[in-house]
Amino acid sequence: MEKKFKRTLVTTALPYANGPVHIGHLAGVYVPADIYTRYLRLRGEDVVMIGGSDEHGVPITLRARKEGITPQQVVDRYHAIIRDSLKELGVSFDVYSRTTSKLHSQTASEFFRRLYDKEEFIVQTSLQPYDSKAGEFLADRYVVGTCPKCGADNAYGDQCEKCGSSLNATDLINPRSALTGEPVEMKETTHWFLPLDKWEPALKEWILDGHKEWKTNVYGQCKSWLDGGLQPRAVSRDLSWGVPVPVEGAEGKVLYVWFDAPIGYISNTKELLPDTWETYWKDPETRIINFIGKDNIVFHCIVFPAMLMAYGDGFQLPDNVPANEFLNLEGDKISTSRNWAVWLHEYLADFPGKQDVLRYVLTANAPETRDNDFTWADFQTRNNSELVAILGNFVNRALVLTHKYCNGTVPAAGELTDIEQQLGADLQAAVAALTEALDTFHFREALKQAMEIARIGNRYLQETEPWKVAKTDMQRAATILNVALQLCANIAIAFEPFTPFSASRLAEMLKLKDLNWGMLGRLDIITAGTTLCEPQLLFEKIEDDAIQAQVQRLLDIKKANELSAWRPEPQAEDVDFDTFCRSDLRVGTILECEKVPKADKLLRFLIDDGLTKRTIVSGIAKYYPDPAALVGKQICFIANLPPRKLKGIVSEGMILSAVNSDGSLVLIEPSAPVAPGAKIG
Ligand code: MF3
Ligand code: ZN
Repeated sequence: MEKKFKRTLVTTALPYANGPVHIGHLAGVYVPADIYTRYLRLRGEDVVMIGGSDEHGVPITLRARKEGITPQQVVDRYHAIIRDSLKELGVSFDVYSRTTSKLHSQTASEFFRRLYDKEEFIVQTSLQPYDSKAGEFLADRYVVGTCPKCGADNAYGDQCEKCGSSLNATDLINPRSALTGEPVEMKETTHWFLPLDKWEPALKEWILDGHKEWKTNVYGQCKSWLDGGLQPRAVSRDLSWGVPVPVEGAEGKVLYVWFDAPIGYISNTKELLPDTWETYWKDPETRIINFIGKDNIVFHCIVFPAMLMAYGDGFQLPDNVPANEFLNLEGDKISTSRNWAVWLHEYLADFPGKQDVLRYVLTANAPETRDNDFTWADFQTRNNSELVAILGNFVNRALVLTHKYCNGTVPAAGELTDIEQQLGADLQAAVAALTEALDTFHFREALKQAMEIARIGNRYLQETEPWKVAKTDMQRAATILNVALQLCANIAIAFEPFTPFSASRLAEMLKLKDLNWGMLGRLDIITAGTTLCEPQLLFEKIEDDAIQAQVQRLLDIKKANELSAWRPEPQAEDVDFDTFCRSDLRVGTILECEKVPKADKLLRFLIDDGLTKRTIVSGIAKYYPDPAALVGKQICFIANLPPRKLKGIVSEGMILSAVNSDGSLVLIEPSAPVAPGAKIG
């Protein structure tokens, strides 16, 4: 840290309480923010970590409609799930509150009112989608219609889920209201706008000149917004769910969720520190760091800072906004609405006690510079071949050997050799790189450097072989074990930000208390003579069946999504009646049915068609694995098709089957027994 600050305010994007949090939220925001905060705490810095649920906005009302409950019930349910699951993961918020709190609506109202009184807003009237039957203005998400890009007939006013285009409600063809299905009208409405253009020069100077050190993805997005020219932005909406606009004549209007939510950072700081919150926001010696995902960059770097500048009164702008890119899941974009996610509360239930594994994997694979993919196979590999085989293995070897050769008491170190000098230098280098990476928000790199300490330890034991040395030179073996235990102590410190549960178990095993970052790199952290606890394994192997169960769950979700997205094919063009009548459709009885050798898909049927017996070959073997069971059943077939040869068999007709939504084929049977040869018509 080049500049010395007195304190740090860490904020974490407030998750919408319209669903539980998933691994994307964790990798993007909560895990890195928690690593950083824990690191600063270990350095003895004054730091507070602010979080809370974002409980307003259309995502909440949409969910309420979908579940048939009130918005309040939605946020009560998900706020509790989110708060409890993040706590269980060890995300160490100093406060985790919610934007439906009274303190928040007061704070947000007061904020709006001050900007209003300072005449920082402009008023603009525009035409907005309106549902006259419901008597409500419609947010973009509530307008549905035909996608102008791909023709899908159920695109939303902000996005077409079929082709992925982002849209405006006015782009849709035949827009209808999702509330009533009525055609959408356009009606005039008046809103307050924050003229971002007014703040453009100040924002340019602050970011483009002043924060060239920001991550390239963040700086780049800001630059393109600023170069494109800023426009006034509406800060109110015609909705019933939200903080009411606190001025006269604003009935039915609430603050836009992106106006009220970031003020939540302030409200939640007030809730935590009623007397001193202002120092964390207004003292220039406070450093504000916003942890967010990339879709939040414009709000945190442009809109909220403009709001703070308009407010004045000494509010500080963020010092850094280390936004992450997105995490995908098994190659597909994570989606709450499609249930394509690993939900934190479900993970915690499925993998009890394995919080650190998830924290580790999400950090090792964090989408810091580009989108990244979470796969269960990678999760298993990182656990089994990194946490278990490298970290756990080293710690376990050091502790077990100490118990074996020294009765579990830390032996004193004798003279250090060149090997230990080298080890000390390697350790120093890893610690310096670790600290540097943490200071600059490179958490993947930081974790790699922390892991390097365990690798140094494994190499050391491999090279020195204390189990052999102990037979001839107990003094030397004692030195080696002492050094190995010192490395374990370094690990207990270095891993605290990343895997706090295991780090504190390790510290307990080593009987260490009051660890701090300043001790890192030292080889005299543990005092000789200390009696250690019995070693326990820090990490356990994750078996294939646990992974298989998760993969199967995702396959099931994918299937369910495909089924719910299925629509029957549009009707074919008309065919004239006489042409149709020339097809000879009949019922027949199955006399024989068997697989066609060397053809996976084909079944050979022998059919009693009333006149004679005929052979028909049909490609439905996959769906009827027991062909013999079909004998005696009746089927429908087209009788007057020219014979064709399939795998050397002449097929005389075509058996009718329906193609189901999942692509499977189902034979068509008459609903009651029919004389073989009966015509269908
Ligand atoms: N709820 C928003 C999201 O999930 C984030 C809000 S961050 C805040 O994208 F700054 F507005 F609080
Ligand atoms: Zn489309």
